[in-house]
Amino acid sequence: MPRGRFITLEGGEGVGKSTQARLLAAALAERGIETVLTREPGGSEGAEAIRGLLLSGAADRWTIRAEALLFAAARADHVARTILPAVEAGKWVICDRFLDSSRAYQGVGNVLSDEDIMALHGVGSAGLLPDRTLLLRLPLGESSERAGVRDAGEADRIGGREADFHSAVAAAFERFADAEPARFRRIDASGSVETVGARLLDALSDWLP
Ligand code: TMP
Repeated sequence: MPRGRFITLEGGEGVGKSTQARLLAAALAERGIETVLTREPGGSEGAEAIRGLLLSGAADRWTIRAEALLFAAARADHVARTILPAVEAGKWVICDRFLDSSRAYQGVGNVLSDEDIMALHGVGSAGLLPDRTLLLRLPLGESSERAGVRDAGEADRIGGREADFHSAVAAAFERFADAEPARFRRIDASGSVETVGARLLDALSDWLP
């Protein structure tokens, strides 16, 4: 059984990741590829339970260190119970956010270094990296407006942080893409859902049957 592919979608709030992850999974399935659509935090029973702890409650509910450990714990369960079994069975896994979100969000603010977050990932998930990461990009004003409409003023604990935080997150994603050009593809997320969907498929064209 040939190994499947592990593809992640990353980017800030409101760039359309969840919609595009759904569309991409459907487009791959139409091509006869067995796909599993999943998300973080979450994607397995235990990780979905941790998601509730991470995304609800007061802004200061967790310290950055505790938050990073919870994301790493959720990811460990998700990798072991959902992602690896699917990839080993030859399926393609489309995951809405993964490790790079921890590197970007928990790495902001000089508490944890990128090495710290990678060390947690080493312990939790044996350092598993995606085969390809599609980084969806929009000008910050546009994405925060979209996220505002989506959340109707009820953003989650992390999404509701200030504009400076979100611009630091966007800058971190750009640095990761610069550092690992073989894994990352930058995707312009402006335009219609269909146009962006076509760009995502194009970014996987070398693998498509
Ligand atoms: P979502 O809005 O894509 O469902 O993601 C939930 C929030 O969790 C979002 O604000 C990004 C944040 N997040 C992190 O801070 N670190 C992580 O590792 C992941 C996966 C998400």
